[in-house]
Amino acid sequence: MHNDIQEVLYSEEQIMQKVKELGQQISQDFEGRNLLVICVLKGAFIFMSDLVKSITIPLEVDFMAVSSYGQSTKSSGVVKIIKDLDVPVEGRNVLIVEDIIDSGLTLSYLIDVLERRNALSVSVVTIFDKPIRRTVDLEPDYKGYTLPDAFVVGYGLDYAEKYRNLPYIGILKEAVYAGK
Ligand code: XMP
Ligand code: MG
Repeated sequence: MHNDIQEVLYSEEQIMQKVKELGQQISQDFEGRNLLVICVLKGAFIFMSDLVKSITIPLEVDFMAVSSYGQSTKSSGVVKIIKDLDVPVEGRNVLIVEDIIDSGLTLSYLIDVLERRNALSVSVVTIFDKPIRRTVDLEPDYKGYTLPDAFVVGYGLDYAEKYRNLPYIGILKEAVYAGK
C-alpha cells in the first residue's frame, strides 16, 4: 500500500469484479440498441477502459473534459466544457461514465447538455458514489461502490493530479493535504 494512503476501501480485485458485473448488466440492457459511451476526463479514464472491455455489445466511445468555474459558480452547477465530444449525440443512446458522484452538480449539468442536444437517451454509470454529499436529486442508473464521506484517491481519482495510477481506491491521509 502507498505510504500516503490511510486505508484501502476496495481492492483492485473487488473493483474488477464490480466492473465486470456492471458491464454485463449494461450489455443486457442495451442489447440491439446503438450505444455511445462517454468518458468524463480525467478521473473516469481507468474505469472507462476497464468497463468497455466488459461490455459485449457493439459500441462507440468518446471523451469529454469538464471543470467547474470556481467555488461561487460550482454551487449553481455551472460547468465549463474544456474538451467537447467529437461526435453528435442526436438520436443516440449515450452512457456517461463517471469516476465518482459527489454533489451531483457536474453530472446534472452534463445530462442537461446531452438532452438539449437531443440524445435519444442519457444514462449514467459511476464506479463510486458518495450519496451523502448530494445536493441535487440525481441517482445513477448503474453504480459500483458507495463510499463514506472521505477524500479518496486511486483508480483514476487524484489529489493534485497524483495517485490516479493506484489500482485500488483508498482514503488519503489528512497529513498529505493538511497545511496546503
Ligand atoms: P460533483 O460534486 O459535481 O463532483 O458531483 C464530482 C467530481 O468531484 C471530484 N471528487 C473527488 N475527487 N476524490 C477525488 O479525487 C474524492 O473523494 C472526490 N469527491 C469528488 C471528482 O472529480 C468528481 O468527478
Ligand atoms: Mg470527475
